[in-house]
Amino acid sequence: MDREEAKRRIEQLSAEVERHNVLYHLRDAPEISDEAYDTLFRELKALETDYPDLMRSDSPTQRVGGAVLEGFETVRHTAPMLSLDSAAGEDAIVRFDERVRKTLGEDVEVAYVLEPKFDGASLELVYEDGILTVAATRGDGIEGEGITANARAIAAVPLSLDASRRPIPSLLSVRAEVIMEVGPFEEHNARLMAEGRTPFSNPRNAAAGALRQLDSALTAKRPLTIFVYDVLVAEGLRLATHWEVLAALEEWGFRVTDMRRRVTDVEAIVAKFREFEADRDEIPFEIDGMVVKLDSLADREALGMTSHHPRWAFAMKFPPRREVTRLLDIVASVGRTGVVTPVAMLRPVELSGVTVSRATLHNREEVVRKDVRKGDKVRVQRAGDVIPQVVERIPERGRRRSPPFEMPERCPSCGTELVERGPFTLCPNGLDCPAQLAGRLIHLGSRNALDIEGLGEETAKLLVSEGLVRRLPDLFDVRAEQLTPLEGFAEKSAEALVRGIAKAAHTPLHRFLFGLGIPEVGATVAKQLARHFGRLVTLREAEEEELVAVLGVGPIMAEAIAGFFREPHNVELLDALLDGRVNLEEGEPAKPAGGPFDGRKFVLTGALAGFTRDEAKAEIEGRGGRVVSSVTGKTDYVVVGDSPGSKYAKALDIGVAILDEAAFSDLLST
Ligand code: IVH
Repeated sequence: MDREEAKRRIEQLSAEVERHNVLYHLRDAPEISDEAYDTLFRELKALETDYPDLMRSDSPTQRVGGAVLEGFETVRHTAPMLSLDSAAGEDAIVRFDERVRKTLGEDVEVAYVLEPKFDGASLELVYEDGILTVAATRGDGIEGEGITANARAIAAVPLSLDASRRPIPSLLSVRAEVIMEVGPFEEHNARLMAEGRTPFSNPRNAAAGALRQLDSALTAKRPLTIFVYDVLVAEGLRLATHWEVLAALEEWGFRVTDMRRRVTDVEAIVAKFREFEADRDEIPFEIDGMVVKLDSLADREALGMTSHHPRWAFAMKFPPRREVTRLLDIVASVGRTGVVTPVAMLRPVELSGVTVSRATLHNREEVVRKDVRKGDKVRVQRAGDVIPQVVERIPERGRRRSPPFEMPERCPSCGTELVERGPFTLCPNGLDCPAQLAGRLIHLGSRNALDIEGLGEETAKLLVSEGLVRRLPDLFDVRAEQLTPLEGFAEKSAEALVRGIAKAAHTPLHRFLFGLGIPEVGATVAKQLARHFGRLVTLREAEEEELVAVLGVGPIMAEAIAGFFREPHNVELLDALLDGRVNLEEGEPAKPAGGPFDGRKFVLTGALAGFTRDEAKAEIEGRGGRVVSSVTGKTDYVVVGDSPGSKYAKALDIGVAILDEAAFSDLLST
């Protein structure tokens, strides 16, 4: 391939790969398999390695990160990034509306755009001639930190804009909020905790932390997304309203909330605010209020701004999800994985409409770090679906404190001696421990698993304590007449539960996989596993090397998954579940599992007669192999052509398998 061809191909591939990024991450409508995507991506990457100067500044290969910075540069914003005037509750909006109408005069028709107030980190994105050139954090509103490489690592950030529906201003600077959705946030935290690291206290901190990684490859691994909600600078853009601006942003390819509304009176504002508040827990990300923005851009000019906030916008905040209460006790609770967690028993307190009486303290080190003891005054918080947490202790002068909490030596559920693993305390008794069995039942019945109606925490514990469920599979053998004598059950509720179980027994594979409670496997990974393998039998037999080929599965997770399916108790458990109890809906594997060269490393040296360098490379990478530049003990094959270089000698020296062109061709055709 000559330089001109390479240039054309790089342009073609950059556009194509980015199109698939958008389809996958923004539209949730992939058109090609992960494998086909990887092949395109690898071809682009290989061409960029061969012709580094032809790499485009909006190349999707930059999304995976790479360069590690020493620190961030200070970037001056294209326009001040102001804050918002705000108040909790509904009253202040009436005064805001009155002030707006008074300033504009009675004959002016007022319209507002209502948007969720995203609880994330604010970001400026600057596009020059449609290409992302700078991204910066808000900082003090005038200057922020340049985090361009990190912004590129976020799939929802367009690297270049779509000019097909509307011309793009030569300079366009927009404002967005970077957020982490609650589901991915919880999975991310679960991973951190499994590694014994301190979890983030809320998705906003997790998003802000990810944005300020010096190594953009780390940002790329975080499940971040953005919503764009404002234009800071748009040279030559002539639009009259914010409503039109949002539509334009969408046409250029930005993610804009579809929860926006346009209203003309204060009653409608209040109604929408109540709706957001009621739906707050159903929204997949955290919002902490609603933003009310004057729609007419000309009228905004008339209202002006203070140094802190514009006078044409107002944030209505939800009541806090943080409150102060008393810590009544700390008890050790055994979860489904056997981890013994210190749980804070609280004087009940209402956090945005939900009464909270318990909160997790994660592990014994966390109790020490936060220095909380029975009787202390504490601040607690709730974030989305996240389990309530104790944020901090509030010191009280002159109050005598209880002695520090100590972990019990024996399992509070089954009496087995507890063992310590890093920061964690474990009950080693597995499913013979009633608390672990009940925990596994609750998980199996939970929303993202089999979603068994009527199987809540209380019922699961009852089924275990009454001996109706001694092994997980027993759940599917429970009969209504066994339930009716139990406390809290009547004929109807007993029948309803049995029906719920029977219905849930017919389930898509990914729900079942999640429900099994395989260590490390959250709902997202469960879906990827189901997609990749299609059938449970194939997954059960998969080796670690095969598992790491699944999107989102790394070596630690692969080991945990393979280990789970090898463990004799689990083998027995699965066999019993599948023996007429659970009926799986399975599919075809998304692709033949892995390429024949998966994970193999090749080194090319010398000229081949039948292939150019690029062609040989494409052949190898198309089969899942990798071409690396130097021969080491980890190299699998050295392909030797005419007049090979020193790599040939090195290969002979350390005894790496050597392929001449004929052997290489043979290998390709096997
Ligand atoms: S507009 C000058 N719209 O809330 C007006 N801000 O507490 C610029 N925020 O710093 C802000 N969602 O980071 C706007 N739909 C939304 C928002 C939003 C969240 C953030 C923003 C701002 C903070 C103010």
